[in-house]
Amino acid sequence: MRNVKGSKTKLISEVISELERRAPSGTAENWDNVGLLVGDPGWKTSGAVVTVDLTEESLEEAKRRGFRLIINHHPCIFPKSKGLSRVVAGGGSKSSLVFEAIRSGIAVAAYHTNFDRCALEVIEKISSGLKITPRGRLFDHARGTLCKLVVFVPESHADAVRAAVTGAGAGHIGDYDSCSFETEGTGHFRGSPRSSPFLGKPGQAESVPEVRIETVLPRGLESSVVRAMREAHPYEEIAYDIYPVDQAPAAIGLARGVGYGFWGDFDRPKPFSEVVKGVKKLFEASGFLLTDPPPKTVRRLAFAAGKGASFVESAAASGCDLLITGEAGYHDALSVSKYRQARAVPMAVMEVGHRESERFFSVVVGDWIKEAGLKAVPLETRTQRIYRF
Ligand SMILES: [Fe+2]
Repeated sequence: MRNVKGSKTKLISEVISELERRAPSGTAENWDNVGLLVGDPGWKTSGAVVTVDLTEESLEEAKRRGFRLIINHHPCIFPKSKGLSRVVAGGGSKSSLVFEAIRSGIAVAAYHTNFDRCALEVIEKISSGLKITPRGRLFDHARGTLCKLVVFVPESHADAVRAAVTGAGAGHIGDYDSCSFETEGTGHFRGSPRSSPFLGKPGQAESVPEVRIETVLPRGLESSVVRAMREAHPYEEIAYDIYPVDQAPAAIGLARGVGYGFWGDFDRPKPFSEVVKGVKKLFEASGFLLTDPPPKTVRRLAFAAGKGASFVESAAASGCDLLITGEAGYHDALSVSKYRQARAVPMAVMEVGHRESERFFSVVVGDWIKEAGLKAVPLETRTQRIYRF
């Protein structure tokens, strides 16, 4: 497999680092399998084919373009808990595709639950497409999704470190960003004779004015926030703590790395028939399934890509009239009656199709690849669609 002559190329490892910055693998669920799954980080590529699933079409397109990278939403080796059981030609459709990728020198990476948690661009595209104002995110397990960073900084660099960590995703509380707290104090240290301290002299006890900066961040963003902190901090050894906090994130606010999908409001209640028109057009959906009764109007709606069964409770608790998702399943979709609260009509659940609900994955990751200076082909694989007649 050869790259297209004259094209700008990057190491697969460089592309993976760029994607890791956008959707850190630490934000993926424990059971998920994300990042580079197949191939050599040392290969070079001029671009990537971006598809929801690894398919024959995506492999053919990568070969045709001379790309050595395919990026999927659904991991081609899954579930992780079963490990790599078999990758042989003719060993089942998934196994054969992985084998063909390796044989053709094409790397395959996956951005799955980490993409869903981090790609706020999807929220922008759906909310602007439906003309709603996004207000908050959906949670299946809200507790345990935050942690706290405390770092001690010389006064001269407090502003730079604060800006770096909040710029990397720390400091979101509800509808507020750039949140942190500072206290002034005195830092004490003594460097070894081999040290080269920013303040003071090696081998000599020092006491210097420092600022203690504390802020919260979503779990999974620790490595990118610490990297940003290190780049802005002048010390060769930085005193900092990261520890879990127990409270759940606020129900409002759009934070990267925490929660899934979103909920938001129309300016005024919209007739359901108009909402349906907008949804079908935006998701290119040939039809949908809906719980009974349909809402007459929709003021607040929620969206969760893919299998949104676990977000029914969160959407209902946020006061939504409608949850749009790929698929929720019979029992979970009908469980909305449990969350009736004071409502005369329970929230409706609309299934637009798993693939349809994830159509923005290829577009958004394609944009990320192009912003990294490479070519991207977001591919709509027709065989991955399930039509309703
Ligand atoms: Fe999915």
